[in-house]
Amino acid sequence: MPPIENVTLLGADGKLGSAILHALLSANYTVTILKRQSSKSPDSYPTHVTVKTFPDDLEPHALASALEGQHALIASIKGSQTVIQQRLAQACLTSKVQHFIPADFGSCDSSTALTQELVPLYKRKAELRAYLQDLATQHPEFSWTSLVCGHFFDWSLEFVHLWPAEHRADILDDGETRFSMSTLSRVAEATVRVLQRPAETRNRMLYVQSFCVTQKEIIAAYEAVMGREWEVVAFESGKFRDEQKAKAEAGDAGANEELVWYLGTVDANWRSREDFAMKLLGLEDEDLREAVQGVVESG
Ligand SMILES: NC(=O)c1ccc[n+]([C@@H]2O[C@H](COP(=O)([O-])OP(=O)(O)OC[C@H]3O[C@@H](n4cnc5c(N)ncnc54)[C@H](OP(=O)(O)O)[C@@H]3O)[C@@H](O)[C@H]2O)c1
Repeated sequence: MPPIENVTLLGADGKLGSAILHALLSANYTVTILKRQSSKSPDSYPTHVTVKTFPDDLEPHALASALEGQHALIASIKGSQTVIQQRLAQACLTSKVQHFIPADFGSCDSSTALTQELVPLYKRKAELRAYLQDLATQHPEFSWTSLVCGHFFDWSLEFVHLWPAEHRADILDDGETRFSMSTLSRVAEATVRVLQRPAETRNRMLYVQSFCVTQKEIIAAYEAVMGREWEVVAFESGKFRDEQKAKAEAGDAGANEELVWYLGTVDANWRSREDFAMKLLGLEDEDLREAVQGVVESG
């Protein structure tokens, strides 16, 4: 296999996608941005980045043609968008793209029965991985790697029940459960490390983190950086889960997000997972307080 040099990124305008684009360019990859024809995102990329489009109906020849000459494809679109990822994986085979990183990047561990039962999105992510593994088994020249990173640390803070402007937060139980979280730049860095280690990372779901912390430690870090005590409201985790599950089953999309918060908080200590890949990828934990400082300074 040739080393990975030419990399196509789908979803470069998303919050995570823009961090991945930055990391790819910093690591000197030759980057192509792939967009659907109906994309409304502005084409404001560095001049040495190529932009290619594909028809929204995902016509196979057009997809394959857009991927010609590429060594790797990264999808950073919504994890629920699995059909397009399947079609792109097929196009990778046609165009001999050797490595595919799907839009996993999960808050939660989509390989567990509990996660798949509570949040249907994670069942779809697991099904996509099974699909990619089937392709990789049938076509050994093709491989995939997916990354599980825990809740994003510096993305929607409300999603993880932190409201710095109001100096308040919610916790589950006593807030002492340890869970992994990742900054967007850490996820992007880990993505680049996967491309740099295609043999070691092929056909694996790998767990990465910025740090493995408790809710209490996060709140204490915000209090220290902001110089003010926070108001904290505690929820009993089992009761919270059952209430949100009932709401989600009644069609409440917000409740699904609450279940993701729950899972990514009570069952997301990646250090105990067999495929915890910090060492493999040559990554070290980041400093919680510095990460909080960065979030506070960025407003
Ligand atoms: N761990 C966490 O806390 C966490 C949180 C959020 C997301 N994630 C994960 O991060 C990844 C990225 O998610 P995201 O929410 O950042 O994505 P996103 O912002 O919703 O989408 C990123 C880009 O995808 C493109 N896109 C949307 N629909 C498309 C389609 N049908 N065909 C082609 N391109 C399409 C859009 O570009 P155009 O409009 O220009 O086409 C958009 O800029 C996913 O794997 C998601 O599961 C993880």
